[in-house]
Amino acid sequence: MPNKDPTLAIFREIPMSDRLIIFDTTLRDGEQSPGASMTRDEKLRIAKQLERLKVDVIEAGFAASSNGDFDAVKAIAQHVKDSVVCSLARANDRDIARAAEALEPARAKRIHTFIATSALHMEKKLRLSPDQVYEQARLAVRFARKFTDDVEFSPEDGSRSDPDFLCRVLEAVIDEGARTINIPDTVGYAVPELFAQMIIDLRRRVPNSDKAIWSVHCHNDLGMAVANSLAAVRQAGARQIECTINGLGERAGNTSLEEVVMAVKTRRDYFDLTLGIDTSQIVPASKLVSGITGFPVQPNKAVVGANAFAHASGIHQDGVLKARDTYEIMRAEDVGWTTNRIVLGKLSGRTAFKQRLQELGIAMESDQDVNAAFLRFKELADRKAEILDEDIQALVSDQAMQMASDDSYRLLSLAQSSKMGGRPHGEVVMTVEGREVRSEADGNGPVDAVFKAIESEIGSGAELLLYSVNAITTGTESQGEVTVRLSRGGRIVNGVGADPDIVVASAKAYIGALNKLQAKQERVNPQA
Ligand code: KIV
Ligand code: ZN
Repeated sequence: MPNKDPTLAIFREIPMSDRLIIFDTTLRDGEQSPGASMTRDEKLRIAKQLERLKVDVIEAGFAASSNGDFDAVKAIAQHVKDSVVCSLARANDRDIARAAEALEPARAKRIHTFIATSALHMEKKLRLSPDQVYEQARLAVRFARKFTDDVEFSPEDGSRSDPDFLCRVLEAVIDEGARTINIPDTVGYAVPELFAQMIIDLRRRVPNSDKAIWSVHCHNDLGMAVANSLAAVRQAGARQIECTINGLGERAGNTSLEEVVMAVKTRRDYFDLTLGIDTSQIVPASKLVSGITGFPVQPNKAVVGANAFAHASGIHQDGVLKARDTYEIMRAEDVGWTTNRIVLGKLSGRTAFKQRLQELGIAMESDQDVNAAFLRFKELADRKAEILDEDIQALVSDQAMQMASDDSYRLLSLAQSSKMGGRPHGEVVMTVEGREVRSEADGNGPVDAVFKAIESEIGSGAELLLYSVNAITTGTESQGEVTVRLSRGGRIVNGVGADPDIVVASAKAYIGALNKLQAKQERVNPQA
């Protein structure tokens, strides 16, 4: 039956039985990864990319968790028009009212309320009896329905909950008006056949199950989040998958959006479902999320890894040249990979640069941002003869990271010297709250010397948890992309920097991470 409900009109009038809803939770569950916390502005940039990707629902955050997250949900609700904007809320009036307040400006809004239903969680975590949890779930959905018709309910730790109790709770919340019932595999314990069977049984046993859309939310602790989600869709009729870009999320992460979307699209013969996603926006979304959070994408990651479409063996290369489909089941262009061609050089003008940004799906907020990116491009072109698409993408992420408006520290210049057998020396010029300072230090290597020079001025007291370098393209001319992870007082943050000189990229990444530790815009780990 075509969906006639105005609040769900955003699902584009496709009969729900054929439509798979993609619910993206990068900005809520993804943000729970240690170090992945984002500012309001960063979340807004990702939300706009998710809208370009045409995800059906964007879970923008957990409004009641902090003022910072409230502001982020509100800003996303103000700006996003083509996707439903959702906030998470625990099953209590305060959280739900706060979610409703943040979502107030949204064109289409959803409140997602949850409470744990497994015996373990109810007894040890909530210290509530099953009857109390039942009552709280029911009242929460009733209260949420006062603000919107689009209410989703999740029994947390659903996959480990007693099925009889789950049936009782789910029947009650559907009666109270929950339109989406989402079954979370909170700890990534499920296996595909059993998880699908559980959903089949719930749908069969809950008398009013046909009044709700069934959804799944899987974690990847045993590497089965995508398989569990797809089994629930194919075998049990789930019609919403909750997922994140690059599979971001705490511990081993969540179901990866790009993997489920491309599986359903590529194996349409098997899944026979319609998706609203513009798949050409997948790689730009992956790069944006990786750039902002500082979580690099592993090279062999399906769909979005740098090697996902690279054929190294002679037999494969020969086959692909003769007939592409001998070894390729998807086209790289269809998920937004560009052909790695030389796009621009030293003599290219602003118009050509701007056009290439558009072709790459990179949206800049203002002409001022385009001008700043163009200046960076010119500086890069002076040092690197061939500017590839990946260089432009890195340059834009780097710009966003370095130019965050509330930065305390900015790198102005650096010099370092090293010779075999000698002790490297680094000198840094930067601004600290607008005041120019110079510092220098020796170190075990040039990167160590520069980090020590920065620390001798700032004295952050942060601990370096991770330092990694990736070549953005091939060859020794390539820009290096550096990720730095710092921790201080229980907070973990990531910084990313790109430059043909990896010592400069390292300094940018280090300063980027320090800025996050200092951020005036609040960063929160929503469920902390
Ligand atoms: O993993 C989980 O159980 C969750 C719920 C809040 C849906 O993230
Ligand atoms: Zn989760």
